[in-house]
Amino acid sequence: MSNNSISKTFIVATLLCVVCSVMVSGAAVFLKPAQERNKALDKKKNILAAAGLYKDESQNIDELFKKVETRLVDLATGTYVSDINATSFDAYAAAKDPKLQVMLTREQDKAGVKRIAKYAPVYLVQEGGIVQTIILPIHGKGLWSTLYGFIALATDTNTVKGLVFYEHGETPGLGGEVDNPLWKAIWPGKTVFDDSWNPVVQILKGAVNPQDAGAIHQVDGLSGATLTSRGIEGLLRFWLGETGFGPYLTKLRQEGGSNG
Ligand SMILES: Cc1cc2nc3c(=O)[nH]c(=O)nc-3n(C[C@H](O)[C@H](O)[C@H](O)COP(=O)(O)O)c2cc1C
Repeated sequence: MSNNSISKTFIVATLLCVVCSVMVSGAAVFLKPAQERNKALDKKKNILAAAGLYKDESQNIDELFKKVETRLVDLATGTYVSDINATSFDAYAAAKDPKLQVMLTREQDKAGVKRIAKYAPVYLVQEGGIVQTIILPIHGKGLWSTLYGFIALATDTNTVKGLVFYEHGETPGLGGEVDNPLWKAIWPGKTVFDDSWNPVVQILKGAVNPQDAGAIHQVDGLSGATLTSRGIEGLLRFWLGETGFGPYLTKLRQEGGSNG
């Protein structure tokens, strides 16, 4: 067959496509376990970072994570669920499952997520068998994207130990400043509830006045990103409220931090 023939061109192009697609799919399949492992490791790193336990890359994440116990909570009752594996439970997939989802009313949906799963994992950092930090997964709408993160609370269930977002699509330099270490450093020591245990955490437009009576619940807004800031305030109030982890945190308080 001549090199100039149309059929030869088609045969070579087809063979090239087949070989390339086999190589790409092979690489995708071959690398999938490594991707899953890295994703799980990244999640652990962010949970530890929220608790203030992850400082730099020299630390062994799996070793540090031995301090963390993962449990599954029934959000409506605040009790632990023991017949489902907490570590492998995927709350985002469960929110799409009619048997496991809770559809939110417009009034309830301060996080702009429409639906959540009935159950959610919580992460408990233990030292000598005593819980030191409670880490809660949070997510909700910012301006352009859904932000996914963790908030770490002290055992008073009120004082923030840290807040991290590990996935979002906000604009770098604007809403993306949620990742700025200077902004994240404002959070530890703030309290998220008022005296009647209503979630009152507030992200201001501008800077907090330390003389203000409510300053302990307030953090500076993200400059030029009022809509992302509002989204974060909304999602925090949602997850700390009645439809989120409210019943669980109430139970922890009543049971002196042990809760089963
Ligand atoms: C290209 C572009 C990207 C923007 N990204 C964000 C963002 O990530 N988060 C945000 O709240 N506002 C973002 N804004 C600004 C919003 O449109 C809006 O003006 C802003 O939230 C108001 O906040 P300010 O009152 O602090 O300026 C963006 C605007 C433009 C033009």
